[in-house]
Amino acid sequence: MPLRLGVNIDHAATLRQARYARDPESILVEPDPVAAALIAEKAGANGITAHLREDRRHIQDRDILRLKESLQTKLNLEMGNAPEIVAIALQVRAHDACLVPENRNEVTTEGGLDCLTHYAALNATIGQLHAVGTVVSLFIDPDPDQIQAARDLKAEYIELHTGAFANATGDTRAQELKRLIESAKLAHQLGLRVNAGHGLNYQNVRELFAVPHLEELNIGHAIISRALTTGLATAVKEMKALCEEYRL
Ligand code: PXP
Repeated sequence: MPLRLGVNIDHAATLRQARYARDPESILVEPDPVAAALIAEKAGANGITAHLREDRRHIQDRDILRLKESLQTKLNLEMGNAPEIVAIALQVRAHDACLVPENRNEVTTEGGLDCLTHYAALNATIGQLHAVGTVVSLFIDPDPDQIQAARDLKAEYIELHTGAFANATGDTRAQELKRLIESAKLAHQLGLRVNAGHGLNYQNVRELFAVPHLEELNIGHAIISRALTTGLATAVKEMKALCEEYRL
């Protein structure tokens, strides 16, 4: 099965909000993350990922509704497990939802979900998402206890947090890669399907291909950044071509 590419378009909205956050009609001005999503799809993205954060720092509620209406592939709604956001997810019925930890002070999602500490709350939300037909993924660190918990919670997918791997150098990087490899094997043995994301870019993604059982990568910052110089279609095509090299 070819490795799918999910393009995270949050940072198209970040750029819009940098100028227009105070304008209630800001949704109508550029850059439009929905227009970006449609270009990414046309260039080969297998899905579009968007994180509706509680502080609405980039993606807005209306962006999510427009994405759901417009996409030809699928919407992967990244979300914290907060009642207000869960209510929107249940209304939107995204194809996929990826539950992530959310801390208002972080620049981006800094660590994986703690599925053990938040087991009961996650269990309730996963049940609700399944009831509306949404496929659930849990964004977790490559840790055996978290993987077991994800299985017990009946998530279809885990998304392995690749941030520690991406940021590491030397021996630590080799250790982080090994953790990802072992985690993917364990998840697969337990019947979980495996995605990965965070901090992936055009330089490090080939190294990640040592990890088996990957179905989808979710990549945002590197693609949107490259798009400034190459255009979004080229940036997506270049990452998609790398994904096509995946063999495990
Ligand atoms: N996957 C998840 C669950 C994330 O939270 C993020 C960041 O929003 C990404 C993937 C994409 O990370 P990056 O922007 O570093 O490619």
